[in-house]
Amino acid sequence: MILVYWLVLVNLAAFILYGYDKSCAKKNKRRIPEKTLLFWAWIGGSVGAFLGMRFFHHKTLKAKFFVVPVLMVVEIIICVICLYQNYHLVTTDYEVDLGIPSEVTIVQVSDLHNQFFGINQSTLLKRIKEADPDIIFITGDVVDKTHTNFAISEDFIEGAVKIAPVYYITGNHEVWIGDKKMSPFYEKMRSLGVIFLDDTYVDMGDYILAGIGDSSLTSFVAYPPFDDSKPVVMLAHEPQFSELYKKLGADLVLTGHYHGGQIIIPGVGGFVSPEYEIFPKMYEGCNDIDGMQLVISRGLGNSVLPVRINNYPELVVVKVR
Ligand SMILES: [Fe+2]
Repeated sequence: MILVYWLVLVNLAAFILYGYDKSCAKKNKRRIPEKTLLFWAWIGGSVGAFLGMRFFHHKTLKAKFFVVPVLMVVEIIICVICLYQNYHLVTTDYEVDLGIPSEVTIVQVSDLHNQFFGINQSTLLKRIKEADPDIIFITGDVVDKTHTNFAISEDFIEGAVKIAPVYYITGNHEVWIGDKKMSPFYEKMRSLGVIFLDDTYVDMGDYILAGIGDSSLTSFVAYPPFDDSKPVVMLAHEPQFSELYKKLGADLVLTGHYHGGQIIIPGVGGFVSPEYEIFPKMYEGCNDIDGMQLVISRGLGNSVLPVRINNYPELVVVKVR
C-alpha cells in the first residue's frame, strides 16, 4: 500500500506541476525548471507527467520530454511486476514428525501487516480453506505500525475463525503500536474466539502448544510446569531467538518476521533481515537446529520496505504427525 500511496502522490504532483507551468508560461510568470518537471517523471510520476503534457498541451514538442512516454512504459511494467511480486500468494508445505498419534494440519499466517488479499481477504481465506487446517496460527505483525489499518486485518480474523480454531501471538509491530491503541482490536479478536498465547501454553492432548509474546523475547524465563513427555509446538515472532526456544524445550517453532529477506537472490539467499543483517544465514524455510525444527515464514505483507522480489507472500502449511 505504501507503494500505491507513493505512486498516487507523485503522479498527482507531476500532473499539477505540468498544468501550473503551462499557466505560468501563458502569464509570463516565473517557470518551473525543465529538469524539475522531468525529475517527477523519473521518480514514478511519468503517467501524471504524460497526462499533464497531453491535457495541458505542454512540452509535447520538446525533444528532452520525449523521454516521458518511454519512462511511462518502463514504470508501468515495473509496477505490474512489483504488484505481482507483492500479491501473488503461494503456499509452502512442510511435514514434521513429532511422534504424535494423529496428524495435525497447521496453517500459519505470519506478518500480514494489514496487507490486502482480495475483497474482505477472500483470496487469502480461500487459500487457507483449501489447506483444510485443524488449527490456524497467527505469528505476529497482523497489523503494521507504519500504515496501520485494523479493518483489513479484522476481515481476515473474522474469516479465519470460521475455518478452524485460531491461536495468536504478538509481533514487534503490535508492541510498537502499543496496548492502548491495540486493545480494541485485541478485544475484537477475543470476542471472535481467538486464543492468545503470549507467554503461556495450552495442553492440546497430544502436544503442548506454547507461545511467547514479542515483548518478552529478551526476558522470558520459563513456563509454568507442563507434561514434558509431550512434544512442544511453539509460536514466536522472531526466529533469531532460536537458542531461547531450544532452552524452553521446543520441538517445532513457527516464526516469521524476516519477510524472506525482502529480495531473494537465487543461489545466494534473502538480502536483508529486519535487523539490517545483510544475507542472514536463515531467512525462510524449515530449519533443523540440533533436532528442533524452526519454521520461518516469509510472511504475507510488507512494512518499511514495500517491495518483495523473487519472494512471493507465503502461507505456510505444516503437517505434524
Ligand atoms: Fe513483519
